[in-house]
Amino acid sequence: MSPATGPTPAAAGPGPGGARPERLPDPVVPDPRAVPAKRWAILGTGWIAARFVEALQASTSQPVVAVGSRSLGRAAEFAAEHGIARAHGSYEELVADGDVDVVYIATGHLDHLAHATLAILAGKPVLVEKPMTPHPADTRALVELARERGVFAMEAVWTLALPRYSIVRQVLASGMLGEVVAVSANLGERLVDHHRAMDPVQGGGAMNDIGSYTIMFANEVLPGLRVVSAHGQRHPEHGSIGQFAAVLADERGRLATVSASMLADTPTTAYIAGTAATLSLPAPFYQPGPVVVRFHDGSELRAEGAALAHTQLFWEALEVARCLDAGLTESPLRPLDQTLATVALMAEARERMGDPVTRASAP
Ligand SMILES: NC(=O)c1ccc[n+]([C@@H]2O[C@H](COP(=O)([O-])OP(=O)(O)OC[C@H]3O[C@@H](n4cnc5c(N)ncnc54)[C@H](OP(=O)(O)O)[C@@H]3O)[C@@H](O)[C@H]2O)c1
Repeated sequence: MSPATGPTPAAAGPGPGGARPERLPDPVVPDPRAVPAKRWAILGTGWIAARFVEALQASTSQPVVAVGSRSLGRAAEFAAEHGIARAHGSYEELVADGDVDVVYIATGHLDHLAHATLAILAGKPVLVEKPMTPHPADTRALVELARERGVFAMEAVWTLALPRYSIVRQVLASGMLGEVVAVSANLGERLVDHHRAMDPVQGGGAMNDIGSYTIMFANEVLPGLRVVSAHGQRHPEHGSIGQFAAVLADERGRLATVSASMLADTPTTAYIAGTAATLSLPAPFYQPGPVVVRFHDGSELRAEGAALAHTQLFWEALEVARCLDAGLTESPLRPLDQTLATVALMAEARERMGDPVTRASAP
């Protein structure tokens, strides 16, 4: 989310020391129905796959043309439920489908490497659910493969494609906050009974599903921070980390405090504190919602944004379609180097918690 990767500041106004703008900038986002259509294939038929398809179908002109599952029955059921023309009974068959432009990888964390590799080797661009893989070496392998083959790849950090985050980028680029000195993000959702999210065998625990958003946020706002401390609480029954808190810092003393919990619903807010003003993202910070900038004298600017949750997953798909149309192999909203940096920080934090990161299943 560095200013360099964001859009040109619009109504955000002058930099530090200048007059305060009258309002926050409008988001710079495409018309959802005007982005050139790409034929989408869905790999995996779980919870997020269904939300993604529903979002595309409700708000865009992006057609979902195929779905693939380990079971033909499940693929056919998903296809019937969502009006998808072709159902494939294996992931191999799905990626070999010649009438597909891009594959959305919607399997569990530890399967992303194998399944994205399959698609890239078949020459298919990929949007890979977050985290791209939990292990830095696996993520590097995937990134290198995509780059070697010249195939588009992007981690599905839908947060960064939301109109709300276009406003955040413009505010940062405008200098309205002064010098950013601290970032904080917290995400908590009681998920202990979830079939996958706490299961250590499937890469479960508070880091991969939800903690990844908090570290991504810190890394996007202040790239270059390192983990200086982290503490995680292991769940007595599941054995995975149920909640954690970590501090990141750099040699200039800039700080990020991040925390995540699968044990309880926590406020799930974030802020970016600058010497002139502080930007706050009311809950849930990683989803659609408002942006608030509060100045040192207590005055505020606010951009409204409805809490539309996962209905807005389509913005990341539009970003992929836009990039493919422009012949790009990476998205400027989520360059692969930023994915690598986030995954490295996640691993660093987990090492400090005594929670070694599991390698993915081999492709
Ligand atoms: N962006 C977001 O807001 C968001 C929200 C939730 C999850 N996610 C991410 O999306 C990914 C999937 O999460 P989910 O909650 O959708 O998971 P899920 O409901 O468990 O679905 C995962 C799918 O993976 C496939 N799969 C392949 N091998 C499997 C195996 N050995 N065991 C179980 N399933 C297997 C299954 O599809 P088939 O049976 O059809 O093969 C299954 O439906 C995760 O990486 C997560 O971080 C993102």
